[in-house]
Amino acid sequence: MENLLSEAPLNTASDQASPGNPGGTSAGRSRFVRACLRHPVDRTPVWFLRQAGRYMPEYMAVRKHHSLLDICRTPEIAAEVTITAAERLGVDAAIIFADLLLPFTPMGLDFDFLSGEGPVVHVPVRTAEHVRALRTDRTGELSFVARAIEKVAAHFSAPRADGDALGIIGFCGAPFTLASYMIEGGSSRSYIETKKMMYTDRVAWPLLMEKLVTVLVDFARQQVEAGADVIQIFDSWAGALSVADYRQYCLAPTTELVRRIQALGVPVIYFGVDTASLLPAMSETGADVIGLDWRIPLDAAWKVVGPGCAVQGNLDPITLFAPEDVLKARVEEVLLAAGGRPGHIFNLGHGIVPGTPVENVIQVVQWIKEFAAQ
Ligand code: CP3
Repeated sequence: MENLLSEAPLNTASDQASPGNPGGTSAGRSRFVRACLRHPVDRTPVWFLRQAGRYMPEYMAVRKHHSLLDICRTPEIAAEVTITAAERLGVDAAIIFADLLLPFTPMGLDFDFLSGEGPVVHVPVRTAEHVRALRTDRTGELSFVARAIEKVAAHFSAPRADGDALGIIGFCGAPFTLASYMIEGGSSRSYIETKKMMYTDRVAWPLLMEKLVTVLVDFARQQVEAGADVIQIFDSWAGALSVADYRQYCLAPTTELVRRIQALGVPVIYFGVDTASLLPAMSETGADVIGLDWRIPLDAAWKVVGPGCAVQGNLDPITLFAPEDVLKARVEEVLLAAGGRPGHIFNLGHGIVPGTPVENVIQVVQWIKEFAAQ
């Protein structure tokens, strides 16, 4: 096993042992994992939120024959979709093809993806009785995700042409964001039912948070054991919360989740959208990396989360529709804001949207590789 901390160039202040310091053999050979730990890298690593998605013709060709959930639940297909996207784009990490809502099924909540409507939970969770009935002992039923990760890890086990090992990202939702889907029954604008439970039910809300943490740690453990180098926690809709509500109702369970995933031996990326005001609180979770959206300049955000934390982001995904000169200027802006300091992973501020020109995504990867060579 390679010892990351014993390598000579790594003996800097930023290399203090982190709870998420991985012992995996590929970790020291992956610029993505090294950047998550704020170790020096030869160039900024890059990957994209929703890199395997509907903007990509290869994904749509698979979707023609399989539903989203079929893809998620069939390790061969999930692995193929994951690998195809990473190779087509030339990125430094592959995020396993899965979905945030998969843990709902073993918890006893039926859901589906309806075209045009997004996710629908058939019987939303609105009472303490319903929360009590949610199961936390069947997470083993999600093993198809771990099987897919094993296939992806086997495929990428050899270093690439540049000697770098591709990073493999597993993921799960954060307690608040998952609770919002459970309680609202789908996507939401105002989170009225979620906040009602949060504010009024002193039994149901903490119990729901606790049950979600139990399930998510188990799910993350399966993914790490299967070969995930890093776990990203999606708190996509945390930005709907005031700082006070985030601190009072979500920070403790999220911190517990981060801490317990780090104890599995991997770094944690904690991502949310519209989080500029929440960043100080989010960084208190102890996550190794904070994922930023595009509404705050990267350098300003990094000041807020502090030098003890890596950052990921933060190009506006819609910039991928802009003319080449505008797109290039925005990419350079992000890189310059990071200033080449160890601990930046280039990404978008949120997922690639359908209709995005694939060639523009590939172009961005190319620029990041060229920028390093300048
Ligand atoms: O490369 C990748 O990132 C793909 C893997 C992935 C999916 N979902 C597959 C998917 C990941 C990382 C997710 C996470 C996810 N799922 C999030 C957090 C990410 C974020 O956007 O902040 C959320 C909120 C969900 C729940 C979810 N899944 C919604 C709200 C929707 C519908 C929205 C839409 O784009 O239609 C989905 C569907 C979904 N999950 C798609 C993909 C590629 C698109 C739909 C499809 O293929 O039919």
